[in-house]
Amino acid sequence: MSGSRQAHGAWRSGLGRDRSAVGWPIGSARLVGSSPSTSPTAQLDVPAQVEVYRHDIGAGVPTDGPFDLIHARFVLMHLRDRENLLRMLVDALAPGGLLVLGESPNRPQEVLSAPSDADAELAHRVVGAGVRLTGRVSTAWEWAHEVEQHFVAAGLRDIRGFEYTPMVTGGDAAALLVSTHVAQAEPLLLKEGVTRDEISRFHLLMRDSRFRAWPFMRMVMTAGRKPLDTEVGR
Ligand SMILES: C[S@@+](CC[C@H](N)C(=O)[O-])C[C@H]1O[C@@H](n2cnc3c(N)ncnc32)[C@H](O)[C@@H]1O
Repeated sequence: MSGSRQAHGAWRSGLGRDRSAVGWPIGSARLVGSSPSTSPTAQLDVPAQVEVYRHDIGAGVPTDGPFDLIHARFVLMHLRDRENLLRMLVDALAPGGLLVLGESPNRPQEVLSAPSDADAELAHRVVGAGVRLTGRVSTAWEWAHEVEQHFVAAGLRDIRGFEYTPMVTGGDAAALLVSTHVAQAEPLLLKEGVTRDEISRFHLLMRDSRFRAWPFMRMVMTAGRKPLDTEVGR
């Protein structure tokens, strides 16, 4: 970004529960995080300088913008109004600002190694229940690969992307992220018939280095830049 531009902050929508998610752009003019959770500050492990807002992205921006960077990972894919939300995020960008969306397409989980056959079966059951649940609550698995076209339609420039699938090995960052997502979905998983003991065992498996799998969840990251005022129309 040009050195003569006024610096604006960064906003991350849909904070997860822990730091394993993604690093923060420390040094940014202002860091804003938001989560619809009822007690975000109690649950979130974020650097002290982050302003945390309890906020539903459907309500627009949580505080005054605009922003030089807006990041939302695994958020819009779950929300029915995702196309309008994407346009709202573009509106909230400062000219020259970046929108970065991480979304996930689906593929069957493949367990490669587990302490026992029962553990492999348990991992399939817990993840399978999670996939069924998310499929029911307006999750669009095809959205991950559609974001690029929506970025074009919204007038973003310099669109870049990558697709990333880390093997999940018990104890590594990918396994801890899966564990975090299962913790977030626990009330729904219980309703789906998964027991508390099974969920506890699943969390232990995600910390057991004998567990390895290709995950059901891949990440497609798409980034695009809002044109500067001088570029509009060019
Ligand atoms: C699968 S989690 C992803 C968490 C985190 N962004 C990450 O990458 O690990 C989905 C996130 O979407 C957020 N979310 C769901 N509905 C939302 C809404 N209406 N407004 C803002 N965030 C929402 C939840 O708070 C949750 O943290």
